[in-house]
Amino acid sequence: MHALTLIIPSFNEAENVQPMIDRLDAVFEQRPDLLVRGRVQVLYVDDSTDDTPDRVAAAARTAATLDVQVAHRPVATGGLAGAVAAGLLAARGDVVVVMDADLQHPPETVPSLIDALGEHVDVVVASRYLDGGSSDGLEGSWRTLVSRSSTYAAKLVFPGRLGACSDPMTGFFALRLERVDLSRLHPRGFKILLEILASQPLRVAQVPLAFAERLAGESKASLRNGLIYARQLAALRARAWITSRVLRFAAVGTLGAAVNLAVMAALLMLGVHYVAASIISAEVTILGNFALQERVVFHDLARASIASPRSRLAGWLAFTNAELVCRTPLLVALVSLTGLSSLTVQGLLLALGFGVRFLFSRHLLYRLAKVRLPRPRAELVLPHLSHPSADLTVEDILVSARPWGQFEQFCLNEQVTVKLITVQPGSRLSLQTHVHREEFWQVLDVPLDITVGDTSWTAAVGERVLIKAGEAHRLGNSGARPGRILELARGHFDEADIVRLHDDYTRASHVGALRATPLAQP
Ligand code: GDD
Ligand code: MN
Repeated sequence: MHALTLIIPSFNEAENVQPMIDRLDAVFEQRPDLLVRGRVQVLYVDDSTDDTPDRVAAAARTAATLDVQVAHRPVATGGLAGAVAAGLLAARGDVVVVMDADLQHPPETVPSLIDALGEHVDVVVASRYLDGGSSDGLEGSWRTLVSRSSTYAAKLVFPGRLGACSDPMTGFFALRLERVDLSRLHPRGFKILLEILASQPLRVAQVPLAFAERLAGESKASLRNGLIYARQLAALRARAWITSRVLRFAAVGTLGAAVNLAVMAALLMLGVHYVAASIISAEVTILGNFALQERVVFHDLARASIASPRSRLAGWLAFTNAELVCRTPLLVALVSLTGLSSLTVQGLLLALGFGVRFLFSRHLLYRLAKVRLPRPRAELVLPHLSHPSADLTVEDILVSARPWGQFEQFCLNEQVTVKLITVQPGSRLSLQTHVHREEFWQVLDVPLDITVGDTSWTAAVGERVLIKAGEAHRLGNSGARPGRILELARGHFDEADIVRLHDDYTRASHVGALRATPLAQP
């Protein structure tokens, strides 16, 4: 049984709020099996300039099955896609449904999305282009054409990852949060599903979507969004290439093979016997490949690998020399059997060795201690989040990117702040003290490096740490996966209260960024 969160991004949707809540409530009254403890979380992530947040607060009191909340963002970072990403980070459930606020995504379709989310499915997409679906709600043939051709472009650029998805442009989908690595997303523009699917391999199922007419208000789609879309697609493709480990391994291997063949050719010209030439060129290549591999192919895994650098070098030498020892008799045999030139046979054998070498490196040399990144076991129950009441209806989630990761801040009031801090692998925050604030940390996903006062240690998942005002402290992540802590701080929130004792990053621009996204006082 999965706890469910509906994420509804909203921008000036005041007239659509009450009908949305009424229809959702009716849907879940029919399907009590989808409720956990009788309720489902509905989270509006709002960037409105109208009174949508107040309408949500009012509608919240009318729903029997829904825990309705609204997070109004003081700054609309990343637009629609940014709003959905912020919602994913804040969601309490482990199954999330994302849908529009304007009733173009019929609430009555939500159960079919959840029902299709089997054990072997990570994402269910409500598609306008399946039998039984329709895109009649798109205003005019122009929008239909734009929508169709951008879908086509995306599938052309990502034939593999979008293969099973007929409608990567839809904003209506369900996913299992634990299966999606949110740290890979760089959300902006309108297309968060495309971002999710293109950034990682996920198993997709589909249900038909009858895309309805907008109930009230206006569509925010525009030419500008079209341009943002084209840029997003290009950036996604570039990132996928750069992050493809096999491709980097192949590049290093190709370079190595070229060096290998060049050295061998030179030696042959000098009159060296081809067997000796093959051995010498291989040894030169082996060391060069190792150095490059450590830096550009497995650099992220190297930091967290079980094996030390020295034993990795030993393993690499042992493996590649064993490969060489096997290759030489093979070279001799194949040259005499086929009559092909020794360079051709050497080239073929290098290509064959490539695959085996990659598997050896990836799974043995750079293997990691097994860590999985579950959703936090510690349930994050913020009283005002789970029970919106008359006096506390709007809270702000400030999501802010930092060189070491990001934080999301839930502002309760000026005296208490709650943050989820994500630290990327290989990163750490500054060593700092607060004059006034005291902090409580709980490690959520993976072990993290913690310093308090003179003591440094690796804190286990679930471990709690209290940092008193005036105590030096630092948080770091030397593991291989992003890790989060839950931070509860007491005392006035103020940048000026932070004394940075040691910092790895230049600060000026980030101070600027902080000023640009002021915290709205609740
Ligand atoms: N929080 C937030 N911030 N919400 C936004 C923003 C924003 O900057 N811009 C738009 N929204 C909300 C709207 O309030 C609505 O709930 C939803 O995002 C979709 O916006 P519309 O303006 O209604 O877009 P549309 O109907 O043209 O787009 C639909 O079709 C696209 C595919 O053609 C949506 O379903 C998109 O999600 C979908 O990608
Ligand atoms: Mn719409």
